[in-house]
Amino acid sequence: MYGSTLKALLLAASATRALASCAHGTFLQPRAEEGGEVKVGNFGYIGRIGPLNWAALDSANTACATGTRQSPIDMVDGVFEILQGSDVELTVNDMPDGAEFENLGTTVEVVTQGGTLTANGKTFELQQFHFHLPSEHLDNGTSQAMEMHMVFQSAQQEIAVIGVYINIADQAAAAAAKRSRIMGRQDAGASSGAPTTLLETVFSVVDQIATPGTRVKTPPLVMSEVVDILKANAFQIYSGSLTTPPCSEGVNWHVSTARLFVSPQTFTKARDVIGFNSRFPQNTPGQPNILMISALGSAAAAVQAAVNQVA
Ligand SMILES: *[C@@H]1O[C@H](CO)[C@@H](O)[C@H](O)[C@H]1NC(C)=O
Ligand SMILES: [Zn+2]
Repeated sequence: MYGSTLKALLLAASATRALASCAHGTFLQPRAEEGGEVKVGNFGYIGRIGPLNWAALDSANTACATGTRQSPIDMVDGVFEILQGSDVELTVNDMPDGAEFENLGTTVEVVTQGGTLTANGKTFELQQFHFHLPSEHLDNGTSQAMEMHMVFQSAQQEIAVIGVYINIADQAAAAAAKRSRIMGRQDAGASSGAPTTLLETVFSVVDQIATPGTRVKTPPLVMSEVVDILKANAFQIYSGSLTTPPCSEGVNWHVSTARLFVSPQTFTKARDVIGFNSRFPQNTPGQPNILMISALGSAAAAVQAAVNQVA
């Protein structure tokens, strides 16, 4: 009797499993039918539903508190290997009719229309890209303004994510790129430090999905700009996890050494919608989960407090 009740509870828990994470649109969290409602996540980044407590929200999220290869991490020498951009095959289809851009409550996400990543003999299909603010990975100890995650899934249901830091373009570079665009030059934004056209285009409509659960169609998206930038740089690769519940491990991380840029105005516009959605840096891969270390520390402090009270 107790067993079957527990089973029913566990089933109910997994049915309502946290949606809208980094794994949205993959086998872990299949997307609703085209045109269906945008499902909003049941986890968050602040307080009781924040990353310190994700494991308690759902039994499926145990890895968040116990996994020893959790993401994001500080990308310091020794935790990653380098893979040249020229050594991966990366194609992303343009979206000439625009793309669905959704506010999942926990991030804003563009639903892509095809693309593949082939690295180290494995091929993954692009599902979506979304944004974190500030960056989740740290670049040798330093957080960046934002981070884009391009989420891929293989036929064997393995997940690969390309992470790209986004910086705020300086005013001069932003103004020059805007002038170039007005003059009809195609190379606007391609030079280092100028806003990335893809990001400026996507975020041009972010204010229209300020409410979680809403979606909008973006203007046409050209993906070759970002693909070329990624291929011309390198990837810092390591095996980590989803940075959102259920924090599943075995994720093939590819953190680019390239930078994308947004204008200061676009950064503010995106920030006003996204707010804050960055998981805190996790322990070095292979080391105990920082929440386990923290739990031991809390227990020791509680014992000491009790001893002090008796004494
Ligand atoms: C990372 O930062 C440390 C100092 O904090 C520095 O010694 C090291 O050269 C940096 N590594 C890279 C790759 O920039
Ligand atoms: Zn993500």
